[in-house]
Amino acid sequence: MSLSVVILAAGKGTRMRSDQPKVLHQLAHQSMLQYVINVAKNLNPENITIIVGYQAAEVEEAFKHERLNWVIQKEQLGTGDAVKYAIPHLFGKQSIILYGDVPLVQLEDLSQLLKLSVGGLGILTFIKNNPTGYGRINRVDDGIVGIVEEKDCNQVQKEIREINTGIMAVDTKYLVKWLALISNNNSQKEYYLTDIVGLAKKDKVKIGSFEAKSEITVSGINSKIELAMMERAVQLKKTDALMEAGVTLMDPARTDIRGKLDCGSDVVIDVGCIFEGSVKLGKNVKIGAYVFLKDCAILDNSVIEPYCHIVSSEVGSNNRVGPYARLRPGTTLSRDVHIGNFVEIKNSKVGRGTKINHLSYVGDSLVGNLVNVGAGTITCNYDGVNKHQTIIEDNVFIGSNTQLVAPVIIGQGATIGAGSTITKDAPADTLSISRAKQTSIPNWEKPKKKK
Ligand code: UD1
Ligand code: CA
Repeated sequence: MSLSVVILAAGKGTRMRSDQPKVLHQLAHQSMLQYVINVAKNLNPENITIIVGYQAAEVEEAFKHERLNWVIQKEQLGTGDAVKYAIPHLFGKQSIILYGDVPLVQLEDLSQLLKLSVGGLGILTFIKNNPTGYGRINRVDDGIVGIVEEKDCNQVQKEIREINTGIMAVDTKYLVKWLALISNNNSQKEYYLTDIVGLAKKDKVKIGSFEAKSEITVSGINSKIELAMMERAVQLKKTDALMEAGVTLMDPARTDIRGKLDCGSDVVIDVGCIFEGSVKLGKNVKIGAYVFLKDCAILDNSVIEPYCHIVSSEVGSNNRVGPYARLRPGTTLSRDVHIGNFVEIKNSKVGRGTKINHLSYVGDSLVGNLVNVGAGTITCNYDGVNKHQTIIEDNVFIGSNTQLVAPVIIGQGATIGAGSTITKDAPADTLSISRAKQTSIPNWEKPKKKK
């Protein structure tokens, strides 16, 4: 059956207390509205229409890569008024109403709802122990006769625990007809979308319901507290899946996966780590405490010591990185590499068995196999205008506190004396040294403090 999706996102989200539109707030590194759009796309609809109001331009801008209809609801006169704005776009035989602030809605539930509402109306419901604030499903002899909003409930209706999640699927021709008949004659002086249920009853159109089983999948977010609680729930689902797959997490409550994390067998992850984008960890990889990994791969048997920051890089097998190392985009480490504390590497390839163990900057470089880079070595890759490459061939030894002024090539097997500033290529198997000769002045008088 052809389908049109409507996503309501005009709300101001006052309780978020933010200058950012509510639906752009992020859950596991993805905006709430993106979750809803993704589910909507999986329903294979004719089209998706988003009703925006507050900060409409910002919201639209954030999704310019998607094929969506954007409609501005000028004034927020209620959910019924909001859906009216979508009418010119309702080409599908069926329509479904979703919410930009209900991000974890499940495809499976929506599919069921659509199935049972063909030719009529379907409501996604939930049984809530504390239903305060929600529209109640009003049944007579098991048949739904209407939805009563909290503020319009009598004492008996207030006791009803079956609530309206807000999500409804409805035959489009009826939806269009009923939207025209909704009035704002209620306690909130709002146009209630929920009034279409009473109108369906009047027209003797079939009304069905499907009960969502998990509360979080139908929960809306109205505050930073609710956002944080949902974030934790999303995280625990991800960490449960990882542990089911055999990953050891020292504390799942202190692990954050903001994207996709793939792990081989016997991976161990200590507390406080953040994984962003797409991260792959090979077999037997150990990640120390408080490591940040974004869009990178760590191959088999490697250890990332605590407090490392690794972005858009590949760490080969049997490496040891950190503590306190930073691998910036374009870094590729071969196997058996050691990268130590306070080492920064950017856009460089490092060969097998090479050690860069202390306080170094290696940028735009090709470093060969079995190289030893001494403490405090710096590749001077930037002349203030352009970047240049440093090539360090196999078996080179770079003494401590060396500056390699790029472009420069250190030939195979060469040694650079400590404290050198190397501005010319160093031939293979030579010792290059550029520091001034040491002299010692005997009987030198130390300066005295002036009175
Ligand atoms: C609505 C339902 C209620 C249900 C509850 C579930 C109605 C009348 N009531 O109540 O039965 O239990 O959701 O959370 O529909 N919006 C617009 N434009 C508007 C008004 C709202 O885009 O003019 C959007 C808001 O951004 C929000 C959503 O619709 O995301 C729900 O609106 P809200 O006013 O919060 O509805 P509730 O009173 O919670
Ligand atoms: Ca609400």
